[in-house]
Amino acid sequence: MTDFTTVAKVGDIAPGQGQAFPVNGRMVAVFNEDGKFFAIDDFCPHMGASLAGGYMADGIVTCPWHAWRFCIHDGQWCDNPRIKIDSFECRVVGDDVQVRVTPKAPPLPPSPPISPSTSAATSQASGG
Ligand code: FES
Repeated sequence: MTDFTTVAKVGDIAPGQGQAFPVNGRMVAVFNEDGKFFAIDDFCPHMGASLAGGYMADGIVTCPWHAWRFCIHDGQWCDNPRIKIDSFECRVVGDDVQVRVTPKAPPLPPSPPISPSTSAATSQASGG
């Protein structure tokens, strides 16, 4: 289980604003919604804009580039509820805003190509 990471002081992010932080190899957008803090993936899945720089109101951040909208509470894409971006646990301890961010899993390595000689040897070994 990943530990929480301190990313800011409470006063660093004004109410109604967001700010992006690198945590565990990812960029995380942390928003202050009326004194409560929420964290989602900062990377807009459309073309990669920073969501922390978007307009936030009523728990929704609007991407600054093409206006895709995401819930800052759970990362749900407002225009298609079946699609979500990652959201992260966020808490305040004393004066520190902390997030718990799991690193992204590395991509799987490509499968080795199957050469004709390999497949022939396999079929001979199996009697085919
Ligand atoms: S980059 Fe976010 S909506 Fe296009």
